[in-house]
Amino acid sequence: MLLVSTKKMLIDAQEGGYAIPAFNIHNLETIQTIIDVANEMKSPVILAATPGTMKFAGMEYLLNIAMLTAKKSDVPIAFHLDHHEDLESIKDAIMAGCKSVMLDASMLPFEENVKRVREIVEFAHRYDATVEAELGRLVGQEDDLIVKEQDSHLTDPSLAKEFVERTGIDSLAISIGTAHGLYKSEPRIDYDRLKEIRKVVKIPLVLHGASGLTDNVVQKCIELGISKVNIATELKIAFSDGVKEYFEENPNTTDPRKYLTPGKEAMKKIAINKIQMCQSENKGLLHL
Ligand code: 13P
Repeated sequence: MLLVSTKKMLIDAQEGGYAIPAFNIHNLETIQTIIDVANEMKSPVILAATPGTMKFAGMEYLLNIAMLTAKKSDVPIAFHLDHHEDLESIKDAIMAGCKSVMLDASMLPFEENVKRVREIVEFAHRYDATVEAELGRLVGQEDDLIVKEQDSHLTDPSLAKEFVERTGIDSLAISIGTAHGLYKSEPRIDYDRLKEIRKVVKIPLVLHGASGLTDNVVQKCIELGISKVNIATELKIAFSDGVKEYFEENPNTTDPRKYLTPGKEAMKKIAINKIQMCQSENKGLLHL
């Protein structure tokens, strides 16, 4: 298949009562691992790349690896920009073939957020690309994006409705008590707020900050209307732990093929678990 936008996969998930896992990728090894698991489990997946990842690996390298893996796959694969803020680089990625983007302008006042997002929606929709935007602001750290407690806030359901209508976005990232990175204390998820948002917003809703949440918590969020679940930190921990363990046992190794393999195997276990948690296994078959 070709790389797809997230339009159909998220609407199918919303209608089917499951979620699509969006895994943050960084390099060839993370992309290969996610794609192998997605094909084995017949799950649609989203490969998400932050601005930091794009800078590290190069937008065209990542996009082309993703395009190649999608071509070799028989499940829908989307390549998605995660937490991008720069309008021009988002437009460049769309022109290069990226079909799904998040413009994060959640740090701005409401009217400015609407204006910036509307501009990207108008551009993206001309090229059949989908747009996710955030209203409210998650606490925590996602790559270079650091949001302190005092700068974070939860999504206001009545503003969410207006935001979606005025921007024309395809999916909405909401802040309901989750955090980027690992939780320092027990997360307090505002399920009532999620229910309120679900009542007034018709498009797919996105849960950021899923690392460290129990399967039960995420599944309750899916039941209440979440259709995309973002996972980054747990994959990074698994990858680095796998590599570290290999070095502990083989301190003199120099062959990247040797030490990267246990890193990939450790990530694979997380990816399997998260696909099961999202209940997206075998849902890729719908699109054949
Ligand atoms: P975690 O790092 O907490 O898994 O969050 C991922 C995320 O929301 C990416 O946008």
